[in-house]
Amino acid sequence: MFKSSTTAIPEALAVPRHIAIIMDGNGRWATKRLLPRVAGHVKGVEAVRGVVEACVERGVEYLTLFAFSSENWRRPAEEVSLLMRLFVTALEREVAKMHANNIRLKVVGDLSRFDAKLQEMISAAERRTANNTRLTVSVCANYGGRWDIMQATSKMVAANPGVLEYTEEMLAPHLAMAYAPEPDLFIRTGGEERISNFLLWQLAYSELYFTQTYWPDFSKASLDEAIGSFQQRERRFGQTGDQVASTNKA
Ligand code: IPE
Ligand code: IPE
Ligand code: MG
Repeated sequence: MFKSSTTAIPEALAVPRHIAIIMDGNGRWATKRLLPRVAGHVKGVEAVRGVVEACVERGVEYLTLFAFSSENWRRPAEEVSLLMRLFVTALEREVAKMHANNIRLKVVGDLSRFDAKLQEMISAAERRTANNTRLTVSVCANYGGRWDIMQATSKMVAANPGVLEYTEEMLAPHLAMAYAPEPDLFIRTGGEERISNFLLWQLAYSELYFTQTYWPDFSKASLDEAIGSFQQRERRFGQTGDQVASTNKA
């Protein structure tokens, strides 16, 4: 189990151990080129490939990608079904490559709403890559931060019959991403500066980075810029700057 940022101070790292990304701006990328929105999503899958490679090269241990939010069902039905098809093709094409590169794949969210075939593909891909250790890629699909907190709360209550008072430590193992440390660096592309119901619990002390770049244009160099910004920050976790400086010297 990883310690949470509110119960213990995480160690200072040069390279973020966990990067979480809201991959936004696919639609606008396509519209700007007079293409249908789906063209942006297709191009967005290519950007994922580049960023996964870059994370392996840079030594990032966990990469978490927001692919489809619990609110994205509100989009036009054709766009939703195109996104689902794209998800299926991406799984078909990428899983073998990920496995060959020692990458573990996790799909995080309320998967019960996906059709049975997709659910089966997801669990097959997770089983196949379960013992890989180089990088863990988590794809958040039908994920919502509030959903996560509520499903974890229900499980915590069921696991502790008769208990009326709970602690963070009791909730943490039931969160959908309990297998990962909290994100060190959060990135949102596409220019919006909001969390859009992503990892609400886990982002408590993450460094936030926003860029205007649309997701399909987000390259390895863009990732390096974000990591560069992270490296300029002083993470204090509630302490003073002087305290942080003396721990780092020690
Ligand atoms: C992000 O890009 C991808 C998903 C939400 C699936 P958008 O589709 O939100 O692109 P914009 O924000 O409309 O440009
Ligand atoms: C957030 O992007 C979800 C994903 C990238 C999957 P949205 O484009 O759905 O967010 P809002 O609606 O602009 O807040
Ligand atoms: Mg968007």
